[in-house]
Amino acid sequence: MIHQLVYYSRNTVSDSDRAMLTNMREILSVSQRNNSRDGITGFLIFDKTFFIQILEGERAQVTETYNRIARDSRHSTATIINVRDVPGRLFPNWTMGGAMRTPEVQEVYLRHGFGGALQPNRLKSDQVVSLALDLQAFEVSRRQEQKLAS
Ligand SMILES: Cc1cc2nc3c(=O)[nH]c(=O)nc-3n(C[C@H](O)[C@H](O)[C@H](O)COP(=O)(O)O)c2cc1C
Repeated sequence: MIHQLVYYSRNTVSDSDRAMLTNMREILSVSQRNNSRDGITGFLIFDKTFFIQILEGERAQVTETYNRIARDSRHSTATIINVRDVPGRLFPNWTMGGAMRTPEVQEVYLRHGFGGALQPNRLKSDQVVSLALDLQAFEVSRRQEQKLAS
């Protein structure tokens, strides 16, 4: 069994798109380094107001990682949506994938019924997982297109 934790938090970093993108890149880069060491995989959704993250791995590592993340001053009021054991990883190839909400990915949000701002306190973890899987698929096909074009 794999332990899965889904939480949301509020972004505390400046609201300029550039600052937020830099911040997101820094978070993903540190996450990828630490998570590959700790056997954690998952996905980070960032809609500019909120972060919503899925962490999956061994129970002790997931708990330790979440406790470390929750203390980070780049966000506040981390709130767990759901913790559960699942039969397998949903993001096996992603030590931490992530997508900031940009006009480019808006179509993915729309497909999931999120035209406006996310209200994470109303989200169920399955909705989060299904949005994250679609954002991941979008990112994979975008990278493939970039590769073909280069
Ligand atoms: C929204 C958010 C998500 C994060 N996700 C992860 C993560 O998945 N793994 C991780 O190691 N750090 C994550 N971090 C960063 C941690 O809070 C912390 O800065 C980092 O783990 C410290 O790593 P270091 O001790 O190697 O410098 C995240 C931070 C934020 C704000």
